[in-house]
Amino acid sequence: MKQTHLYDVLIIGSGAAGLTTALQLNSHLRIAIISKTELQGGASWLAQGGIAAVFDKNDSAESHIADTLVAGAGLCHEDAVRFVVENGPAAVQWLIDKGVDFTREEGEQSYHLTKEGGHSHRRILHTADATGREITGTLIKQVLAAKNIDIFEHHCAVDLVTQADRGSRKIRCTGAYILDMKSETVCLFTAKSVVLATGGASKAYLYTSNPDGASGDGIAMAWRRGCRVANLEFNQFHPTCLYHPKAKSFLITEALRGEGAVLKLPDGTHFMHNFHPAAELAPRDVVSRAIDHEMKRLGSDCLYLDISHKPAQFITEHFPTVYKHCLEFGIDITKDPIPVVPAAHYTCGGILVNTKGQTDLLNLYAIGESAFTGLHGANRMASNSLLECLVYAQAAATEINQLQSQIPEPDFIREWDESMVTHSDEDVVISHNWDELRRFMWDYVGIVRSDKRLQRAQHRIKLLQKEIQEYYSNYKVGRDLLELRNLATVAELIIRCAMQRKESRGLHFTLDYPELSPIAKDTILVPNNFAGQDIIINRS
Ligand code: FAD
Ligand code: SIN
Repeated sequence: MKQTHLYDVLIIGSGAAGLTTALQLNSHLRIAIISKTELQGGASWLAQGGIAAVFDKNDSAESHIADTLVAGAGLCHEDAVRFVVENGPAAVQWLIDKGVDFTREEGEQSYHLTKEGGHSHRRILHTADATGREITGTLIKQVLAAKNIDIFEHHCAVDLVTQADRGSRKIRCTGAYILDMKSETVCLFTAKSVVLATGGASKAYLYTSNPDGASGDGIAMAWRRGCRVANLEFNQFHPTCLYHPKAKSFLITEALRGEGAVLKLPDGTHFMHNFHPAAELAPRDVVSRAIDHEMKRLGSDCLYLDISHKPAQFITEHFPTVYKHCLEFGIDITKDPIPVVPAAHYTCGGILVNTKGQTDLLNLYAIGESAFTGLHGANRMASNSLLECLVYAQAAATEINQLQSQIPEPDFIREWDESMVTHSDEDVVISHNWDELRRFMWDYVGIVRSDKRLQRAQHRIKLLQKEIQEYYSNYKVGRDLLELRNLATVAELIIRCAMQRKESRGLHFTLDYPELSPIAKDTILVPNNFAGQDIIINRS
């Protein structure tokens, strides 16, 4: 078994961010893509609604920018918003050129554009309600065909490797320790540039729309090696996930509301107009809080989303995935309202990066949901995240292409040493702690917070972290243990960020500070071992 792998660029993650980066890099570079699941295992594959970009002649970049800023509740970095929106149409055109087949208007060449919460125009390109599968599937075909790209599925990154740069004495990233889950060995991957494209951390919550791997691994790994993180208190809750005892994490796309679906109380009453003039199409934080409020007021397990007033053919053509999935649980959405609850969906904060995707560590980049670019502010607008993956992947790849020839080979790196650890005899510790963490994060650090709830959560996370660290030091690593360790780190960071924010803004709502502060400020956490590459971020 080969223990050390040498590459030019190591990309950890095979979602929209990782795949796009790989395909935008120069073809003479030797690239490794690592995924702890199969290539299709990330959130990108599950994306339903679509990708936002200005494609309609009556729409404009200024309007897309204005909507994003409003949804972000005063905390978006306008330069990042402008950067993504203005590069959006070209990024989407790149996808089309790669072969992505977006849904078109019936009998026409132009694309069908749908609408979602916060957007004042129809500007979401989509492939029915399975946009992620179409985009990711197309990109996967391309990376599999590329001769300079090696794919490592079922390989889980454990930690980044860093060393002092001989010239500048700054700390640089030179690779990662990666667990090969089949052989259960930890290998060393060295590279001149490393890209974290590991997705979000919504698995920190009991109920989530996310795939199992969304455990914030990249955020935790970067933090451990000295990178700053920001705005992790802004975890987005999607208003409408299917509520059914047997349905695991299934999203009901916001595009249903964009096409006229209405939210109803159990007795059939509409209620969203009581909370926001845009009713069902209000920003997500508003809709999720309204549902949470009504569920708590009525003591109800779920509310309902109803599109049955639309023609059945329209529903099955536009939403075939949702239609089929609901039918498996006995819900015919052409006739019945869909039982829904909010669930953790998107990590707006993450590893602090600049507009090239650079982190605080030399030669380490973070792209996609693992990164904090400033685009989303206090609340991400629907369908802006796939766009962010594409635009920042392209920017990072351009930077790597330019810098690569100037980067020296990594110095000697020790292989993984597991001579002091044994096989665990009690895996129940992992499953118990995993459940406990996700439950108290849901109860205490969820849609509505308070000082007392956050203090309780902080107390518990400290105890859990101690136990997990002890376990990690004594036993061989496996995916469950690695994910639990990372989730605990990210949960702690979420709680710390939430405790620092003494106001209610966007996705962070606290009973103790219900007002909006007049000053909009990011929450930036600096690790004790801060690596300090002096990247330029516009707002402190
Ligand atoms: P992901 O696609 O999540 O990929 C992460 C990758 O990292 C995976 O390959 C995973 O295996 C790998 N990984 C993680 N940790 C490790 C590790 N330690 N070692 C090795 N590999 C690792 N956004 C939109 O813009 N439009 C939508 O319509 C939309 N719909 C959505 C629907 C659902 C159900 C969900 C969950 C999200 C949706 N989003 C949507 C959000 C969007 O899909 C994500 O934000 C985006 O896809 C994230 O892409 P990514 O490449 O950063 O991460
Ligand atoms: C959805 O389809 O509702 C999800 C869109 C998104 O999260 O951007």
